[in-house]
Amino acid sequence: MEKEKLLYEGKAKRVYETEDPGLLIVSYKDDATAFNGLKKGSISGKGVINNHMSNLLMKRLEKRGIPTHFVKELSSRDTLVKRVSIVPLEVIVRNRAAGSFSQRYGVEEGFLFQSPTLEFSYKNDALGDPLLNTSHALALGLATGVELETIKRYSLAVNQELKAIWEKCGITLVDFKLEFGRDPQGSVLLADEISPDTCRLWDTSTGEKLDKDRFRRDLGKVEEAYEEVMKRLETEYSE
Ligand code: TMP
Repeated sequence: MEKEKLLYEGKAKRVYETEDPGLLIVSYKDDATAFNGLKKGSISGKGVINNHMSNLLMKRLEKRGIPTHFVKELSSRDTLVKRVSIVPLEVIVRNRAAGSFSQRYGVEEGFLFQSPTLEFSYKNDALGDPLLNTSHALALGLATGVELETIKRYSLAVNQELKAIWEKCGITLVDFKLEFGRDPQGSVLLADEISPDTCRLWDTSTGEKLDKDRFRRDLGKVEEAYEEVMKRLETEYSE
């Protein structure tokens, strides 16, 4: 399958049409942004790692009954995916306090929750992806009630599976962001990516941050962190 027309260029990926109207090619870049694009940079080799990691994780989620857009890894940076229309919500699941949660609620980073939290942001760069609740999402027609219930159920199931996967790698899954899409039949599928760009991953024994916070917060050793998580995942889950 070949790339045809460039359909969309995002901050970290390009999306191309293919000869099959139902399939797209996602191509992962090394570009990194933070704070809604205010901070810009590059993380060398990130695209290759995120492509492979996201595919490996989505394949495991499929096996656990969570439908995803993943079809086939085509090359080190390119993956064939099902064409979906993205539900304009960012779904964030948290196991521990960090980032915007810690800031908003004044809770120390690392505080372990009694149970995972689930929140939605309105996927809208011009507005800075504001937090919104399900009644807002319904009022704006962003998703139906049934879709929101499905998205919540899938997101919590993804959390259970990802937590277990990372635990085997000696990594604590602090939080992550998911995006979902609708296929032409109206089914909800997990889309976008799952990578150190979209998850907070802490070394369980040292607490060291092994994710994009190293870039966001200028902590150094950014490439090394991405390589380390990929290496651990491959060691535990090579096919
Ligand atoms: P937050 O604490 O900044 O709200 O981030 C929560 C999680 O979502 C964290 O794992 C990073 C991820 N995330 C994204 O994937 N994209 C974004 O644009 C933001 C703000 C966070």
